[in-house]
Amino acid sequence: MTKKIILSGMRPTGRLHIGHFVGALENWIKLQNEYQNYHLIADYHVLTTSLNTKNIYQDSLDMLIDWIAAGIDPEKSPMFRQSQIKEHTELQLIFAMLVTVNRLERNPTLKDQVRDLSIENVIYGHLGYPVLQAADILLYKGNYVPVGEDQVPHVEITREIARKFNNAFGEVFPECEPLLTKSPRLIGLDGNSKMSKSLGNTILLSDSPEEITLKLRKAVTDTQKQRKGDPGRPEVCVVFSYHKHFNTDEAPAIDSDCREGKLGCVDCKLKCAAKISEFLSPVYNRRKELENKTNYLIETLINGEQRAREKAVETMKEVRSVMQIG
Ligand code: TRP
Repeated sequence: MTKKIILSGMRPTGRLHIGHFVGALENWIKLQNEYQNYHLIADYHVLTTSLNTKNIYQDSLDMLIDWIAAGIDPEKSPMFRQSQIKEHTELQLIFAMLVTVNRLERNPTLKDQVRDLSIENVIYGHLGYPVLQAADILLYKGNYVPVGEDQVPHVEITREIARKFNNAFGEVFPECEPLLTKSPRLIGLDGNSKMSKSLGNTILLSDSPEEITLKLRKAVTDTQKQRKGDPGRPEVCVVFSYHKHFNTDEAPAIDSDCREGKLGCVDCKLKCAAKISEFLSPVYNRRKELENKTNYLIETLINGEQRAREKAVETMKEVRSVMQIG
């Protein structure tokens, strides 16, 4: 039986943090044994919010390192840059005819970005972000799209485009579905509901144990708990939310010790930092090794791009044939 296809990607905008891991990467790693995974480095999508292309290549390699270090196996899962497979732009143009401006203006992710990045004038490419993303997914006939919660609206638009195409030209594309992890969102160190680079509240996959300890020291806890003996409320504490994820076994005891005023924040933070460091240590070590292996990384990309291109070319042939163009 042929395997179902997973397609997912991320924009290369800097090093990945544990929010990426918990929100999406963890799923990619798990799924690659059962499915045929494709992972896309969305370098064209970066242009929607910045025209500074100086770092895109290095950032793409950096993201590749994070992915491999986290556990994506290049043999199983081709990893490739969107910009290297021309079929993305071709399919995007066709898809642009299948979605209304009104629908794209209602995209909540666009609204969030406009607000968070204080964008005054939205460019055409930014409005069309989900159209390119639909091409990313459907070019590989992705059945499942493991992403963070914030990307679900884009997968919904992709489904609508697939349906519209299939109705007009015949069944070519599957109706893909998003796949979320158990806890798709990690709170930021500052208590913001989202861990994100632009908010500067992240723990990176590449942070050393010392850096992790320093960062956790500044993490926001229950503001009503001032001294060690004060009873705390774990449900409002950032550090406890990390314990729940990275220190599952001890979390119930930490919960009760905090409530009873037996555990102070300093000790609790140290424990948490140690757990996160332990969790990240294999990733950190693999990352260190990969940092010096530029040739290997480039070969991995070239190989991933070849495999991705084969699939993309095949789909575009089918698209052109059902549309009777070319
Ligand atoms: N928009 C995604 C993000 O910002 C990145 C992305 C681009 C993507 N193309 C994709 C995700 C296709 C899943 C599938 O994280």
